[in-house]
Amino acid sequence: MSYFITLEGIEGCGKSTQIPLLKEYLEKNTSYKVLVTREPGGSPIADQIRKILLSRKNKALTPQAEVFLYEASRAQHVAEVIKPALKQKKIVLCDRFMDATTVYQGIARNLGEKLCKDLNHIATKGLTPHLTLILDCDVKIGLARSRTRLQKENKDESRLEEESLNFHKKVREGYLKLAQEDKNRFRVMNANQTIEAIHKDICKEVLSCLRKQASKNTGSPPSRG
Ligand code: TMP
Repeated sequence: MSYFITLEGIEGCGKSTQIPLLKEYLEKNTSYKVLVTREPGGSPIADQIRKILLSRKNKALTPQAEVFLYEASRAQHVAEVIKPALKQKKIVLCDRFMDATTVYQGIARNLGEKLCKDLNHIATKGLTPHLTLILDCDVKIGLARSRTRLQKENKDESRLEEESLNFHKKVREGYLKLAQEDKNRFRVMNANQTIEAIHKDICKEVLSCLRKQASKNTGSPPSRG
């Protein structure tokens, strides 16, 4: 069985801390191989597009050019990395995916949810995650964390972090709206807790969803112990 999990949330919500912890947990506690990847980027060509998208030098990108670049990166990533890994029956853990476009470009930038969902469909050829975890945290706290990290790492990747507080509030509300509309695929995780508490909640949810999927497919649970 393959399984596709995406993690989403505002800047600084803790995805990059939680993903390696979840990978380690799944490798210890299930028999699956796990592939970790991210968007924008995730393949050599998509990583080149990531640089254009996140560079603070590219403030002049129009919303239309921006959305096509995200989708171009996604199309390449899905074809070269995600689909092959799913074919090999892996669990794919992806740091952001199509819902980021629906929320950041569709809702926060006002391009429209429907347009972005249609573009997502073209880029992914209809591939949809089995499970999407939204790490939900306070916007001011998340942004402060993210800006501190970018300064420490001295990265140029801050084009989106430099958007207004209102933009990031719209992003948070957008994610919560999507989660409300599809309770089957989305789970909202409280990311205002300690790293350990969030990790525990995530593992519990993922294991429960994996077991459900496995029993749908084969009738047998995937865990080792
Ligand atoms: P991250 O690697 O820190 O998550 O940065 C990716 C940035 O790109 C983040 O600000 C969210 C933004 N983004 C979009 O606006 N649309 C998208 O489709 C994706 C995948 C990311």
